[in-house]
Amino acid sequence: MSAQSDIKRITVPEIRARKGADPVVCLTAYTTNVAKYLDPNVDLLLVGDSLGMVLYGMESTVGVTLDMMINHGAAVMRGANRACVIVDMPFGTYQESPEVAFRNAARVMTETRCSGIKLEGGAEMAETIAFLTARGVPVLAHVGLLPQSVHTIGGFRAQGKSDAEAKRILNDAVAVAEAGAFAMVIEGTVETLAHEITKTVPVPTIGIGASPACDGQILVSEDVMGLFSDFTPRFVKRYADLGPMIAEAGRMYAEDVRARRFPGPEHVFGGQSKKAASAG
Ligand code: KIV
Repeated sequence: MSAQSDIKRITVPEIRARKGADPVVCLTAYTTNVAKYLDPNVDLLLVGDSLGMVLYGMESTVGVTLDMMINHGAAVMRGANRACVIVDMPFGTYQESPEVAFRNAARVMTETRCSGIKLEGGAEMAETIAFLTARGVPVLAHVGLLPQSVHTIGGFRAQGKSDAEAKRILNDAVAVAEAGAFAMVIEGTVETLAHEITKTVPVPTIGIGASPACDGQILVSEDVMGLFSDFTPRFVKRYADLGPMIAEAGRMYAEDVRARRFPGPEHVFGGQSKKAASAG
């Protein structure tokens, strides 16, 4: 057995038990290598359907398919030994009925071996969340700004500014917690609402653009690393700027190839290029 496989994976009940304790540290990951790099320092890796926009250049997450999520979920599981890995259910794979949701969630769980799934929605998804959790599918809920509903809400804008909207989202949070979600993402809400939800529900709240009032935080890794520059939301903090480093590496490589500096003798099998160079 390898040393790596001795590492114990953080479980869903352990994440659930972090309510009101140490902050739950979460990031997205879509690939094996990124998962490997992030795994030692995060509690939860989310294979988010944001991959549609971040990796595939889509305009929204609506075009993401179940097969895409399964392929990337399996890739992340191959890179992460310690973090609890949760895979997003894409648009159209869980809204129709609890049975359809279970069938698709079961595919995600069996084909990726992840620890649970995430789905977007509030009170209207409570029945489905109860159905899934009762049948062995841990659910991370997602309330507030729901990117899969971008066409209904007409764009990405902060949620909970009016009293009526704040009341509805608080009601959503209570409904998904009562239905059995082990934690919930709160996205794009005003701080007062995130605070109210966090105070009210008995499960950890994981904020993205939802203030420090939450029990944990999540960001899209490509935003954190400076690898996605289509837009940078105000709530993102950039910890690295890898985009320009990639561009510079590409520029230096191109320059070397054009100047015939690469490949050098140390990159060649059989030493032909050294002979060719001295013969020339
Ligand atoms: O898809 C995603 O990456 C998400 C996070 C931003 C919470 O839902």
